[in-house]
Amino acid sequence: VYLHIPFCQRRCDYCAFATWTDRHHLHQQYLDAVIADLRRADLPAASSVFVGGGTPSMVPPRALGKLIAAVPVMAGSEVTVECNPDDITAEMLAVYLDAGVNRISIGVQSMDPAVLAVLGRWHLADNVIRAADLVAASGVRSWNTDLIYGAAGESPQQWHDTVQAALQLGAPHVSAYALTVEAGTPLAADPHRHPDDDDLADKYILADVMLEAAGRLNYEVSNWSLPGHESRHNRLYWRSGNYRGFGCAAHSHQDGRRWWNVRTPERYIDAVARGEDPQGGGETLDAATRQREAAQLLLRTREGIPVDWIDLDGLDDLVVVAGGTVRLSRRGRLLANEVSMRLR
Ligand SMILES: C[S@@+](CC[C@H](N)C(=O)[O-])C[C@H]1O[C@@H](n2cnc3c(N)ncnc32)[C@H](O)[C@@H]1O
Ligand code: SF4
Repeated sequence: VYLHIPFCQRRCDYCAFATWTDRHHLHQQYLDAVIADLRRADLPAASSVFVGGGTPSMVPPRALGKLIAAVPVMAGSEVTVECNPDDITAEMLAVYLDAGVNRISIGVQSMDPAVLAVLGRWHLADNVIRAADLVAASGVRSWNTDLIYGAAGESPQQWHDTVQAALQLGAPHVSAYALTVEAGTPLAADPHRHPDDDDLADKYILADVMLEAAGRLNYEVSNWSLPGHESRHNRLYWRSGNYRGFGCAAHSHQDGRRWWNVRTPERYIDAVARGEDPQGGGETLDAATRQREAAQLLLRTREGIPVDWIDLDGLDDLVVVAGGTVRLSRRGRLLANEVSMRLR
């Protein structure tokens, strides 16, 4: 189950997520609508819950806890909340843990104030240390830091120091994303800040070498973890599993049918209040598309794909073939989309 919280204090320059900075008056109404929508859906118990955004840590912790408690879960399920470092307090974490949260994802992005400024990101680097220390001390089962590389003017040393800081904080899981230019963002409108492919590749390799040396093994192109700390929720996406999204703009998938909710919180609240399905659109994938997408997602993971799903001719050092399975090599992960073109 995915729960979308579409509120942020400020919008970061690179971000195109469905989130608003001027709708704080809707917090409670919105959370109530998501709970009503969940009740109406009458779901079977979920293997994982991911509360994302937006900034879930912006809404009052007890209200978020009530929402999380409305999702039926299996014993041992993974329950993650995405948090902005500025919001994290010991009291907030205690309320989350009481509500069943067992994984925290912190939006760190960079530990360098100059890089945070170029990204148009608002939190203070010092606050990350405070927040991560609180998370580590809270007793939560696992936690992640999200990092972004490739901001304009970010030196290899600054990126090295960010990765090293995440490791020193002790994060068992690290997601590191190449800065992506999303249409309609302030970043898109400013070509001087657009990332350079070769710089991104160098920084990817630097991160991979550092993270692997510290026991955080790569298990999907942009994700590394200590053994046992892989995100179960993301693995479900990458294995083309079934999931249900609640809240505005949330996506769902069930056996080859995909659908998504209306985009704004107002329209979502209205639809639920009228007892209507908040669906905004959907599509059914034909068998060939479904198979191709499943293969593309799996190819990006450590599991890899069966050798007969791909034409290996000329892929040489981009893949590793072992025991009937094909995985991307480190170099192959830089060119994952190119390798995907060879899927049969
Ligand atoms: C919904 S946000 C995380 C939660 C919280 N709002 C935050 O930013 O701290 C999910 C993650 O996506 C990544 N992200 C968002 N936009 C991106 C972009 N344009 N390029 C690369 N990574 C991006 C960031 O690392 C971010 O932490
Ligand atoms: S990156 Fe996170 S905090 Fe920044 S605008 Fe996007 S959702 Fe909000």
